[in-house]
Amino acid sequence: MTKKIKWDYSPAPESTDHIQLKDQYDLFINGKFISGAEEKYFDTINPATEEKITAVAEAGQSDIDKAVKSARKAYDKTWSKMPAKERGKYIFRIARLLQERAREFSVIETIDGGKPIRESRDVDVPLAAAHFFYHAGWADKLEYAFPGRAAKPLGVVGQIIPWNFPLLMAAWKLAPALATGNTVVLKPAETTPLTAMKLAEIIQEADLPPGVVNIVNGAGDTGKYIVNHNDVNKIAFTGSTDVGKYIMKSVAGSGKKYTLELGGKAANIIFEDAAIDQAVEGIVNAIFFNQGHVCCAGSRLYVQESVADEVISKLQKRMQSLIVGDPLDKNTDIGAINSKMQLDKIKMYVKLGLDEGGSIYQSSCSIPKKGFWHAPTIFTDVSQSNRIVQEEIFGPVLAIQTFRTVDEVIAKANNSPYGLSGGVWTDKGSKIFKVTQDIRAGVIWANTFNKFDPASPFGGYKESGVGSEGGIEGLSGYVNLV
Ligand code: NAI
Ligand code: MG
Repeated sequence: MTKKIKWDYSPAPESTDHIQLKDQYDLFINGKFISGAEEKYFDTINPATEEKITAVAEAGQSDIDKAVKSARKAYDKTWSKMPAKERGKYIFRIARLLQERAREFSVIETIDGGKPIRESRDVDVPLAAAHFFYHAGWADKLEYAFPGRAAKPLGVVGQIIPWNFPLLMAAWKLAPALATGNTVVLKPAETTPLTAMKLAEIIQEADLPPGVVNIVNGAGDTGKYIVNHNDVNKIAFTGSTDVGKYIMKSVAGSGKKYTLELGGKAANIIFEDAAIDQAVEGIVNAIFFNQGHVCCAGSRLYVQESVADEVISKLQKRMQSLIVGDPLDKNTDIGAINSKMQLDKIKMYVKLGLDEGGSIYQSSCSIPKKGFWHAPTIFTDVSQSNRIVQEEIFGPVLAIQTFRTVDEVIAKANNSPYGLSGGVWTDKGSKIFKVTQDIRAGVIWANTFNKFDPASPFGGYKESGVGSEGGIEGLSGYVNLV
């Protein structure tokens, strides 16, 4: 048993004084906040305290009809007619307003979703702004993105996003759709609606023509109304593979386009010639970042046998120094699990791992009494056929195996229904090229992990999805090339 490192940091909570939240949020349709036809509201809670933050309106079928109608009108009358350079200016304006209010957005993201303030402040919000900046630049340069072709918008796009990167996923979806001249009906996840509602306020402030962006809340049923609406031209979705399959079936034969960013079970591969301390830091980042609520999380670790003992003991030591707790504290490494449902799912998998004969190691961190929490957890003595090695857990749980040869680890890494991402740690460029060529995954990081850039396409093979987001590939999902 590795001993706990014996020091405590003083609390360093981020202030919440500057946050402005309404008692309830309505639907953002046609440039205005309006109540839903059924006037139903649901609460959004802080997963770190289980306390209600505020309530949001739930959109029913007639509200979705209204949102799609307003998007269609804005598409026909304004947005698709506007000179591209004017569209670009609006998107720049959104990017700048987001940057100006970065602090407020970070705090709200952390309160609503449970992620550490360090991540919402340094990753989610800056990257979201970067996506708007990047795509604003493309708006009037599509002829360079697609030389010799005319890029025509698709029309009205329905966008459905998850709770793990609420604002960032909204930016990934909205920015390319707007830059290419489409109008949008966006639905945030039911546990994290708030930064999208604040983004709606920014969209109003930026004076975007009414109806270009509509934001509606609700759970799966609201999502279904969007997916099945016959005046929607494309569905862009990020979330579970199950819902991805539902969307594929639902839109089959309808002529609707779709892009799907689904689950993952990334292999993170450590060769014996890697810089071990950096690799250990990389493992921590790959699986414990954002509580493991990351579709590209490095949730399968493969360590070359000769360094396995060293890597695992260093990893255990590092796990003991990870701080689990108040997401608003700037020292926190691991925040709250997003929902009770997700926590139950993680616990179910941990039990399953034990039942399957795995050996568990968890950090002995103290865990707050209220709220949803899970200690960083690793499993050894597992094999490829174990469910915790095959299935997406979406929590801070890592399955560790060893390997001897390059071919063996490539075969193991590819033995997965998913193919979203992967990581390789080695001193040898030749191994990097071999692994990145032979592993069937959309993104593979070498000697780093979880790096994102708006110019770099992100998307998966197999059950990880269809299409890419980011870069020119991402733009191409929002246009017809003629
Ligand atoms: P989910 O796929 O149910 O939710 C994602 C979004 O889809 C939410 O906005 C939800 O309201 C909406 N939705 C749900 N059912 C729908 C339907 N039938 N039609 C249209 N929209 C629908 O994911 P959930 O239940 O929150 O999480 C379950 C698991 O999915 C997680 O444990 C994780 O393994 C995976 N997941 C993967 C994500 C990724 O980034 N690839 C993100 C979130 C979850
Ligand atoms: Mg669900």
